Parts: sequence; C-alpha cells; structure tokens
Amino acid sequence: MCGIIGIASNKSVTSNIINSLKRLEYRGYDSSGVATIDDNTINEKKCPGRVEELEKLLFNSPSSGNVGIGHVRWATHGLPNQINAHPHSSELVSVVHNGIIENSENLKQNLEKDGYKFKSQTDTEVITLLLTKFLKKFSPLDAVYKTLEKLTGSFALGILFREHQNIIIGARRGSPLAVGYSNNENYLGSDSYALKSMTNKISYLDDGDVCVLTKDHIEFYDSKKNKKNKKVLILSEDKNETKLGDFKNFMSKEIFEQPFTSSNCINEYIDKIRNDINIIDFPLNPKKLNKIVLIGCGTAYHSCLVAKYWLEELTDLNVEADIASEFRYRNVKFNKSNLYVFISQSGETADTAAALELCKKNNVKTCSIINVVESTIARSSDWVLPIHAGPEIGVASTKAFTGQLLVVYILILKIAEIRKNINRKIFLEKISNLKKLPDLLKKSLKSEDKIQIFAKDFIDAKGSMFLGRGSSFPIALEGALKLKELSYLHAEGYPAGEMKHGPLALIEDGLPVIVIAPKDKYFEKTISNMQEVIARGGKVLLITDKKNEVINENIRFKLEMPYIESLLNPFLTTIPLQLLAYHVALLKKCDIDKPRNLAKSVTVE
Ligand code: G6P
Repeated sequence: MCGIIGIASNKSVTSNIINSLKRLEYRGYDSSGVATIDDNTINEKKCPGRVEELEKLLFNSPSSGNVGIGHVRWATHGLPNQINAHPHSSELVSVVHNGIIENSENLKQNLEKDGYKFKSQTDTEVITLLLTKFLKKFSPLDAVYKTLEKLTGSFALGILFREHQNIIIGARRGSPLAVGYSNNENYLGSDSYALKSMTNKISYLDDGDVCVLTKDHIEFYDSKKNKKNKKVLILSEDKNETKLGDFKNFMSKEIFEQPFTSSNCINEYIDKIRNDINIIDFPLNPKKLNKIVLIGCGTAYHSCLVAKYWLEELTDLNVEADIASEFRYRNVKFNKSNLYVFISQSGETADTAAALELCKKNNVKTCSIINVVESTIARSSDWVLPIHAGPEIGVASTKAFTGQLLVVYILILKIAEIRKNINRKIFLEKISNLKKLPDLLKKSLKSEDKIQIFAKDFIDAKGSMFLGRGSSFPIALEGALKLKELSYLHAEGYPAGEMKHGPLALIEDGLPVIVIAPKDKYFEKTISNMQEVIARGGKVLLITDKKNEVINENIRFKLEMPYIESLLNPFLTTIPLQLLAYHVALLKKCDIDKPRNLAKSVTVE
C-alpha cells in the first residue's frame, strides 16, 4: 500500500505535495517521489527513505510546476530503491500507483515484444508504458480507459501527461481514491486525511470511476466512460489531535491518551441520565439474531477475539471470529440471520474491505466498528459504530484497540439486554463498572516505571512468550504483536494451556515470559502453567490484579493492575504490554512510530 497525492493549481505545487506526502507516510515510508510538469517537461524526483530525504533532494535541486503528483511507497514489487520509487515516467506520462497489478508479468512480456524497455522491477511500470503506447493513438482519457481494460488487480492511479499539461487523471479499482476542491486548486488523494490540510470539501471515487481534474474543474466518469456527478462531502474539523505536544512520539501520546479517549467513547454511547446504551437502528433485530461473525486484521482481529469471549459469556449467541484475509477466501456459508461485524481502525484495510464486499454480495447485514468514519469500510457498511478515538498516527495500534474493545463491549451489553440474556440489574452494574474504566486506565499507566526496568531484560533476549487463558489469550497475542512490530524481537502469544503441546520446548534459562493472569475463572490454571515455565528457567513477568496474592520468589516481576470486574480485564492488562513494547523499542533505538517494513493502513492484500 502506498499513498498518492495530485494537485492542479495556479501556483507551484511542490511544497504542498511534500506536506501531503508527510501526512500520507502512515501508508508507506520506504521511498517517495514527486513529478511536476513545467516548460513542456516532466520533472521526476524520487529517492529511497522518508519524505524528509525527498525534501532535501528538492531543496538541492528544486522542481517547479503548477500541476504535479507525489507518492509514498510500501514496496510490493522490487526493492525500496530509487529506481523502483514512484512516479514512473516515460517521455509522455508520469504515474503514481497504489495497489497491485496482478497480470504485470504478462503485460510486461507483451510490451517488451513491442520494443518497450523497462527500468524498474515494479508492476507499476507496465501502466506507464501501456499509457505511452495508447497515447500515440488516443486522447489521455481514452488512453487511460484502454490501459484500464488491460489491467487486473486492485489499484488507484494518478497520472500526469506531458502534452496535456493542465490535467491529472485519477482512476480507482479496489484501492480508495478521493478528490478535493478549493479555489483555483483541486486535489487527488489516497484518502481524505491526505487532503484535509488543504480542503474540507471532498468526493470519493466509486469502484471503477475515473476523474479528470484541472485547477478549476473536476469531471467524473464511471467504468463505462459515462459522465457522472458526485456528492461533495464536508469533512469534520481536525481538532489538532495530530500534534505531538510534549510527547516524544505519537505512540506514547496515544498510549497515554487512552483514559481520555475511553471516557470520550463512553460518553458517546452511554446515556448517563437514563443509564442506558445509545445504540439504536440495529440492521437486524437482536432478538432474531442467529450468530455474530467478527472479522478484522492485526490488532483489530485481536479485538474480534476478545469480543468472542465476551459474546459467549454474556449472550446465548453463536460466535465466530476470523482474520479477514482468511474469511474472504473461505467457503463461508452465509446466513441472513447473522450479523457480520467488521473491526478496523483505518477502515481502509484491503482484506477487511474485501471481506465486507463479499458479505454485501451475499446480501447479509454488516456493521463496522471503525475509527475513521469517512473510510471505505464505514461507507460500505449497513451500520457504523465509531470508536471516537481521534486520529491514530503511530503504526502500532494502541488507543484504537481499547476503543474497539469498548464499542464492541457496549454493543454486546446492549444485545445481551435486548435478548434478555442479562437482567436489568446486571446490565446497570456493568454500565456502572464501565464508567470506572477511564480512571482505572489512568492507574494502569502508572505501571510504566516497573515496565521500564523489565524492558531491559529484552535487550539481549533471543525471543519472548506471552501467555494467557480466556480473554487474556487474545491480549497475549496483542502483547506479542506489539513487541514484534516495535522492537523486531521474536515474540509468541500462546494460550497458556497449550504450552505443553510444543512451545514449552522453547523455554530456557532467562527467556522473558509474560503471563497474564487476572483473578478470573482461569486464574489457578494459568498460575500452574506459569510454574511450569519458571521450573524450566523462564524469567516471568506476571500481570495480575490486586485481589490476589501470588507469592513466588522466582517471579522476576509482578505487576498488580487495579481490580475490575473480570470481563473488563483486557482493557487494563493490555496497557503494560503496550508500554513494554514501547520501552523495549526505545532501548533498542527502533523507530517507534514507523517500524520497519510496516504501514499504518494496509491497502493491498
Ligand atoms: C496494519 C497496522 C496494524 C493494524 C492492521 C489492521 O497492519 O499496522 O496496527 O492492526 O493494519 O488495520 P485496521 O486499520 O483495519 O485496524
């Protein structure tokens, strides 16, 4: 996945392109580039590394031009070097691309037979050369349609034309694309976030759409080249949430924001006067529901797994949780009485979006639990429940995770109440416990000092294990994922009871093992599994809560989290794990907000 920006203006566009690319870096940051048209020439500048490197390059060798495109890359085909960086230009066109051209090898062979020479290892260059070929006979718009006919895969494109200097053409199939409107300036962007610093008026392209933009006009066409109109949407105001303030990086800011974001979310969903949950407009009557199917990727999938335990505990419903990239290719038996719930921070994750499309094709009802309400997934779902966490910039998800857990928990409580799986008294008790959460999150963040000391044990560690049972198992998975993402250290999340079936062989003297064992129905069992680890030399960090007294002098560290009703433990036990990953990464001098090889929004499958 990559980020695309295009600007057509009455003034030089390079510095606005660079600013937008910086905002787009969450989509990819292994290389970047810009192309403008000036004086009948395509000026292409690109380099490996962050946008800062491109900025330096442009400082030493400026590019001007009132029409331009830019790109940040997350490599799929070919190494992240200068040649493979976008744009990919010929003497006639310059192209930026997000997505994958699946038939690029075949197209390349045919183009080579026609005498075209390739410079890069990317799949994108076939688009450049197909356009170059068609432009010899056709207008820019027709050349784009001719090219699109040849491509399979999913993509969003931004294209400049040397001989038609005032236009940018955008095309969307699968990968999202938006346009923005301003005075004497129009924009093309991978998402509204890229455009938000320049305009709050945008339109989204539908799948198959093509747009032609100049500085004062935008035209839209559908996949059959029929002209179409687009609704202009007004974006909500950015409340400066994307500023770092006193924090060193976005991840630490986002970790410490959790008491505030959770309180915000609770206020949105809990009616304090009626002591009720403000969730209405269910797309299916909860009383008639057969099953809930939860789908997501990465951290969002871990939210699905926690939700599965909650649903089974609080309701009589059948539940399934699946990873989107698996769900979309399984031979799923759809059922109209099921509700399909999609969890995603960005709302742009390609696998999750494709799984949602599959549900829509099968005419079943969908709900999305989402942070970015203007996103593709939110726009395609029958029902949207926002998590109200504000922009999350750090690639590793933190406040969005607790936000997803909160919303899915509130939804489950409401369903349980409507289905009479819990009585009014229990419902009110649960709401009152939920209201305590922001304060308890604040207290959990105080574990940072101890965590900082434990983090030192990871500097020379070969790997680590995270163990839990029940809803602490997905939290173990999430803890391990955070550590892998941020510190590049091997980490395994495992159900504690499953250790004896293989992973126990990994335990050796000094291996850090994190055991998540709050006082719930699994507590004694998990503690026995912990003893098995200690007996084999594992260096244990036990995360538990105040209500229990585990004394074992062989535990390296014991972290006592505040006590809360057991269903809500995942909120609190996840906090020290976020802090642990953060501090290990700091000690190892890793890039906290932009870990290597990753991206915040994964728009390729
Ligand atoms: C990427 C991010 C993860 C995130 C996953 C799913 O891999 O780095 O932090 O959990 O995508 O993203 P989504 O936006 O769908 O929650």
